[in-house]
Amino acid sequence: MRIVMLGAPGCGKGTQTKLLTDKYDAVQLSTGDLLRAAVAAGTPAGLKAKAAMDAGDLVSDEIVLALIHDRLTGPGAVSNFILDGFPRNIVQAEALDELLKSVDQPLKGVILVDVPSAELSKRIAGRRICRECGAIYNIHFAPASKEGVCDSCGGETYQRSDDNEATVTSRLQTYADQTEPLIGFYESAGLLKKVAGNADPADVFANICTLVDQL
Ligand code: AP5
Repeated sequence: MRIVMLGAPGCGKGTQTKLLTDKYDAVQLSTGDLLRAAVAAGTPAGLKAKAAMDAGDLVSDEIVLALIHDRLTGPGAVSNFILDGFPRNIVQAEALDELLKSVDQPLKGVILVDVPSAELSKRIAGRRICRECGAIYNIHFAPASKEGVCDSCGGETYQRSDDNEATVTSRLQTYADQTEPLIGFYESAGLLKKVAGNADPADVFANICTLVDQL
């Protein structure tokens, strides 16, 4: 499997990608997670990325492409992957195209998870994540049995620093300006499949699997 999960912040890309990796034994490549790890580790790339992430802007293509390049080429490259949150603009999509051509592993498809914008802010504001295992919860839609404690591993759950009202508004605008044009880009390439994301996560997952199985 070589697919891209496309959609607005909070549409459920991460939630669905985790389910897909289990079912299809694929690797999740989330640029958001990679960037948050770089920020936490205080690497030079992480220090540069933090300001953009806090503002709800995109991190520079140079930094993001370097992170992805390392994982798709070279000795430790993965070939069975789900890109979650990448690409985010046309420059990144074209760079991905080139990169995958160079290793003779073209994309199989792009899944657009479509959620009405009115629902996105509530989902993002309610999101909680386990510090230990990365499990995703939502205080409104999918709460942990005991608030603050992960059901899977007992780790502490937390709220992402960019899941605040001001940054969310900016993230949604950045999506509309820079990422939404990818819908047309991948439609033209014959790769786009669309799924309604405003349903029970299990139903969304079943619909995505149907599409993935046809790729
Ligand atoms: P990133 O981490 O990629 O964040 P995002 O795109 O804003 O996406 P989210 O993680 O917010 O949402 P999601 O779609 O994964 O939703 P989730 O499954 O968690 O990026 C963060 C920042 O990093 C960016 O702003 C940018 O600065 C930078 N960055 C990252 N990639 C970059 C790139 N390529 N180039 C440049 N900069 C980059 O679900 C959300 C919530 O909803 C959860 O609580 C979940 O439980 C709940 N939920 C999920 N599905 C459902 C459902 N069906 N019904 C009800 N609730 C649901």
